[in-house]
Amino acid sequence: MTTITRINLPRYPRIQFQSYLRVQKTTTGTPATVYFKQLRRLRHNLICQSPPPPLPFAKPKTMGNNDSDADETQFQLLGFSKFVRTNPRSDRFGVQRFHHVEFWCTDATNSARRFSWGLGMPIVAKSDLSTGNLTHASYLLRSGQLCFLFTSPYSPSIASMENFSPTATASIPTFDHAASRAFSSAHGLAVRAIAVQVDDADFAFHASVSHGAKPVSPPVLLDNHATLSEVHLYGDVVLRYVSYKNPNHDHQDSDSPDSWFLPKFEPVDKQSSYPLDFGIRRLDHAVGNVPELSSAVAYVKNFTGFHEFAEFTAEDVGTSESGLNSVVLANNDELVLLPMNEPVYGTKRKSQIQTYLEHNEGSGVQHLALVSEDIFRTLREMRKRSGIGGFEFMPSPPPTYYKKLKHRAGDVLTDEQIKDCEELGILVDRDDQGTLLQIFTKPVGDRPTIFIEIIQRVGCMLKDEEGKVYQKGGCGGFGKGNFSELFKSIEEYEKTLQAKRIPEAASA
Ligand SMILES: [Fe+2]
Repeated sequence: MTTITRINLPRYPRIQFQSYLRVQKTTTGTPATVYFKQLRRLRHNLICQSPPPPLPFAKPKTMGNNDSDADETQFQLLGFSKFVRTNPRSDRFGVQRFHHVEFWCTDATNSARRFSWGLGMPIVAKSDLSTGNLTHASYLLRSGQLCFLFTSPYSPSIASMENFSPTATASIPTFDHAASRAFSSAHGLAVRAIAVQVDDADFAFHASVSHGAKPVSPPVLLDNHATLSEVHLYGDVVLRYVSYKNPNHDHQDSDSPDSWFLPKFEPVDKQSSYPLDFGIRRLDHAVGNVPELSSAVAYVKNFTGFHEFAEFTAEDVGTSESGLNSVVLANNDELVLLPMNEPVYGTKRKSQIQTYLEHNEGSGVQHLALVSEDIFRTLREMRKRSGIGGFEFMPSPPPTYYKKLKHRAGDVLTDEQIKDCEELGILVDRDDQGTLLQIFTKPVGDRPTIFIEIIQRVGCMLKDEEGKVYQKGGCGGFGKGNFSELFKSIEEYEKTLQAKRIPEAASA
């Protein structure tokens, strides 16, 4: 493991940002916008089987709105200069950690193997025809605490032919054929569920619903051992609660995945899963893109009790061409981090968040930030595979970025580590508490939608009541100082996606 020493980290002055942006609401839109609204409502009815959320595309907001137009009372984006980080420990239910992330896809075998190879996460468990599941194929990847589940539907007729109801043999009790198909058709490869382990998934569900959460699945007790429930998060994404009957549940090293994951999952034969390990250890944050931040943040904040951990406005993070507003919500321990972004308008080029919303046909998970215990090792392994089935990365920043890095982070990174950063294209940022090393992949599928971030946080080591050393959540921030570099890369990448126009043939 690479050791990065923290040396007397200076406290950076808080950068003064311009005041908050106002949120304007409208239900009007262009014909394309109206079409997407109708499409989303139809799909939501099918997928969530509950009333559609009021998610109109917001009236374009421009950078530098003036305060007099503000009309949002539930939530206001303050901007960094006014935002003061506090932790009211206001969770409405006991939250432990991220549990897993489930992707819905059309062929779980291929998606799981691609992510396994590209991220160094072995396939450790399965629930498919070979385990008696006639409803869906699910494959589980695990590296440290990070679990990715890939699920795709079998034909509903398969279960019927065996005289089962379509979902009788499902291991994920909330799976639905029609919803899964509609989801994949609308979004392509995308995240369906962000799962958090909670003290009591039954209590978490009812506490959430009583505070405004839209229910998706009431609690289901699985094998008298685990409980699973779901509420709507944003778009077609659900927040899934998982809890275990035994409060001392801790069987992470067991060979039996039904003891540490969910019942009806069986271990994968070691012969058929190559034992890769690139050093990825857990999920740090799962970011959503939404058309309108204020209503999305107010909704999630209200039913979870999570507090605001950070804010970024277009002025903070935008380039001259595009930008976003962003809010990070956190649980009491600040280890379950749920940032959300909205686009801003009126810039030279379309916001990358708006591009996402169009290609994803609405809100969804934009990126998953994975913590590495050694980002240099992880990146070397991932880059080896970029051209042979793994993941490609956004273009690296110019050499001038790394020339300035010694001045910016020379007290934390050695000269050799700064050289490694340049060789591997790693970005470095810091806040008043710690340092963040980060890098972003290109979108992982066909559409310019979901991508992966690999990070390592340095500093902020604390001791708990038992004297155990741990790292404070969000240490080093979220790369605000790198957003501009990142956006330039994304903008350059998006330019390569511009459809090449075939000149119209001259009419005869
Ligand atoms: Fe991130």
